[in-house]
Amino acid sequence: MSSFSCSYILSLHFISIVFVLPARAQQSTGACFTSIISFGDSIADTGNLIFALNNSHRVNRLPYGETFFHHPTGRFSDGRLIADFIANALGLPLLTPYLPYYGDGWSFRKGVNFAVAGSTALNDDFFNEKGIKLETKNISLDVQLKWFKDFLSFMCSSKEECEDKLSSSLFLMREIGGNDFNYPFFQGRSFEEVRTFVPSVINAISLAITVVIELGARTLLVPGNFPIGCIPAYLSTFHVSNAKDYDEETGCIKWLNDFSEYYNQLLIKELDHLRKMHPHTTIIYADYYQALITIYQSPEKYGFQSSPLVACCGVGGLYNYNSSCMCGDLGSTVCMEPSRHLSWDGLHFTEVKLCENCSCGLLQGKYTNPPFTETCALLEPIGNLEFPRNTF
Ligand SMILES: *[C@@H]1O[C@H](CO)[C@@H](O)[C@H](O)[C@H]1NC(C)=O
Ligand SMILES: *[C@@H]1O[C@H](CO)[C@@H](O)[C@H](O)[C@H]1NC(C)=O
Ligand SMILES: *[C@@H]1O[C@H](CO)[C@@H](O)[C@H](O)[C@H]1NC(C)=O
Ligand SMILES: *[C@@H]1O[C@H](CO)[C@@H](O)[C@H](O)[C@H]1NC(C)=O
Repeated sequence: MSSFSCSYILSLHFISIVFVLPARAQQSTGACFTSIISFGDSIADTGNLIFALNNSHRVNRLPYGETFFHHPTGRFSDGRLIADFIANALGLPLLTPYLPYYGDGWSFRKGVNFAVAGSTALNDDFFNEKGIKLETKNISLDVQLKWFKDFLSFMCSSKEECEDKLSSSLFLMREIGGNDFNYPFFQGRSFEEVRTFVPSVINAISLAITVVIELGARTLLVPGNFPIGCIPAYLSTFHVSNAKDYDEETGCIKWLNDFSEYYNQLLIKELDHLRKMHPHTTIIYADYYQALITIYQSPEKYGFQSSPLVACCGVGGLYNYNSSCMCGDLGSTVCMEPSRHLSWDGLHFTEVKLCENCSCGLLQGKYTNPPFTETCALLEPIGNLEFPRNTF
């Protein structure tokens, strides 16, 4: 079975769309927002990619999903994603993936998730022209925006009705794990070359933000990039014996973290510009970089094992990561306590600690600008938070 082989290469040629009956009814009363609309990649995908691939992906096997759902859900994690925790904190149900529920308006009444694993902010042409291979086809941000427009055409019947609905939605604009940078870096492109992509990526995100604002979005959360120099996949790919390349305190690769900081600085600048252009909107920057660096600096303080750079699930090497044989592939092993690990599979995060602590920190405002609590003053009293609120 090719889907069980370590060398399985993911290739998405088309997306088949079917109509499915509503799967569940969840009752909740949104305090600040009536729904969440999400765009993004594997950091936010709640089932679109595995649907598009007819479930033939290693993520559709345990141990993916083992922690909370106890079965795979298409999330690239052992459990819930940051977006799930945000939804939970706002009293909204977990995000419904768009593709499996296409056409089923009822399932989407509290939100919709267009995020697809492997997606990039820039479209396929950009990478094709440069000879950079993508693992997935035709799922970039502009395609997700096209789906969004289709979605609106069956969710509301006039421009005014759409604007009205969208004005009370929270928009999660991409969790940028940075596939636009992952693909070229992992294909051996240089720091200098990949750095030249940054303005284009920022521009694509900025355009997407502008489009949704013009359609009626009023509140948007835009995360920056992670400190990619602390991610096991990067650490093992760019492993060198020169200690000078590593940050003494965290063990992360400095030049890669510098890259993330450079990207984040440009993003922050662009968001300032967008705020000026659209003063009636609230554009919140979520500082994933600082939220995570704080943990990498003192993992034990936050309940993690002392070596947070080692993936929980994977196959061997210094960081328990091997790109040709990954978590879910035959031969991979999974750690006993995912909650004591920060990295789940070398590229994505585990549920518990990151989400409990990180999205909590995000929601409380420490790592958001403007603070999320200013946008949603009702956040604090929400009763059904499933995580402690006095972390971070
Ligand atoms: C999807 O998978 C099911 C069962 O694994 C199979 O019966 C079906 O033919 C597949 N459909 C497509 C379009 O590949
Ligand atoms: C990409 O997807 C969009 C929307 O689903 C579709 O309209 C378009 O034809 C697709 N393009 C290619 C090249 O497959
Ligand atoms: C989150 O971080 C706090 C320290 O701020 C730590 O005590 C706690 O254990 C972490 N979360 C969980 C579920 O352990
Ligand atoms: C990664 O896995 C492949 C295939 O299983 C194996 O041949 C290779 O030696 C592994 N690489 C490392 C660095 O362990």
